Amino acid sequence: MALPGFPVVLLALLPLLFSCTGAEASEVGVCYGRVANDLPDPASVAQLLQRNGITMVRMFDADPAVLASLANTGIKVMVALPNEGDNLTSAAASPAFALDWVRSNVAAHLPATRIHAVAVGNEVFYARPELMPRLVPAMANVHAALDALGLAGDVKVTSPLAFDVLGDPTFPPSAARFRGDLAEPVMRPMLEFLRRTGSYLAVNAYPFWAYATQPGDVSRDFALGNDVDPNPNPVVDGRTGLVYRSLLDAERDAMHAAMDAMGFGAGSVGLHVTETGYPSAGRSYSVAGVPTVAKDGSPVFSVANARAYNTNLIRRVRAGDTGTPLRPDADMDVYVFALFNENLKGAGPDDIEQNFGLFYPNMTKVYDFDFNFHGGAGGGGSDQASWCVANAAAGDARLQAALDYACANGADCSGIRSGAACFEPDTVPAHASHAFNSYYQRNRRANGACDFAGAAYVVYQQPSE
Ligand SMILES: *[C@@H]1O[C@H](CO)[C@@H](O)[C@H](O)[C@H]1NC(C)=O
Ligand SMILES: *[C@@H]1O[C@H](CO)[C@@H](O)[C@H](O)[C@H]1NC(C)=O
Repeated sequence: MALPGFPVVLLALLPLLFSCTGAEASEVGVCYGRVANDLPDPASVAQLLQRNGITMVRMFDADPAVLASLANTGIKVMVALPNEGDNLTSAAASPAFALDWVRSNVAAHLPATRIHAVAVGNEVFYARPELMPRLVPAMANVHAALDALGLAGDVKVTSPLAFDVLGDPTFPPSAARFRGDLAEPVMRPMLEFLRRTGSYLAVNAYPFWAYATQPGDVSRDFALGNDVDPNPNPVVDGRTGLVYRSLLDAERDAMHAAMDAMGFGAGSVGLHVTETGYPSAGRSYSVAGVPTVAKDGSPVFSVANARAYNTNLIRRVRAGDTGTPLRPDADMDVYVFALFNENLKGAGPDDIEQNFGLFYPNMTKVYDFDFNFHGGAGGGGSDQASWCVANAAAGDARLQAALDYACANGADCSGIRSGAACFEPDTVPAHASHAFNSYYQRNRRANGACDFAGAAYVVYQQPSE
């Protein structure tokens, strides 16, 4: 999708982030929060997810009944080692605790339940600042435990951060930096850990706060990610000249800029969004200055706004349109917060907290949305999520010739060099798939960009590794 003023040259300069099969595409899932006393049983929830084409779920614990209900559904699951109790402290202090935890909360459920990530803590710097020095050691022990059980390749370890991991200012995005008290003590070791283990940074991002608190500075379209074209009020980062169409992207690029400033540029560590969403109703009076009515007279927290925000988000990810102005090739796995309205969250003056759900507890939708959405206007290529894979039947000689062609003509083949992260499995078809898919994605899935004289073909389901 072309952005006005978009510096196309960046596309050619920045490496792509791909997994080793070259098959990684972004995915949109939901946060399965359960702070409620009226939710359906986990088995019904698993069916609800499947009926609605929801293929990825973030849990805030590792409840065995929920994990059992997600078995054999193919749904990818992020489990959590919670802030609560002494879990995080124990995991930091004791490799044996971490190993026990991983055995019973991860290994015991694999492979039937497709756990692909462990969130160690949640918004630790905000919720439990005293645990700050324990966080990276806990992540490292959980990773070591996964490694010892042979699971580290399939299950990534990260820690969802609140946006306040950044200091002021966070706009323009290029000016953003990690908070001074966190940058060197925690963020550098965390980023080094994430790079070493092939994992990703994770942030919980809620653009509606900026809209709600600064209605004069932040337009509704920008906050909701409405792609207004032509845009009468483009938001420009004056330092870089980059033009923003959505506040979520500006927030993601603020994180990217902070990572860049620490030497973790494009291609080193990715960024996923472990929570984002929009309340469909309610008020927030405990945060000073949050109005319920925007400058144009419309309610800030409404079904229309929640629906627009989440629909825009789902469409973007399903269309493979996840790049940002600063990282045009960025992936974005994202979890919509939340699956259900949760009646035991902030009531009374903070009832927006109860109104983030896509569904009511009776499993009817709060508003219409579609996780099966495909497509959009294509610029000659396909906006539908698709991947290019090697046709093993072509034989190694033809695949090798096509592989050499792709690498010489713009595919990013750095990952399959000897010793690089995607060198294994060291087979011609695996290397060819990596190169072909890079070439195909870089050509925006154009017709003919996945042919290689019959040595490749397009698939519409993400190939498994
Ligand atoms: C870990 O967290 C769970 C869920 O919050 C809690 O029930 C348990 O007591 C905690 N365990 C430890 C060792 O802190
Ligand atoms: C589900 O719950 C919502 C909110 O309480 C209500 O408006 C709706 O009518 C209910 N739907 C059904 C089918 O019971």
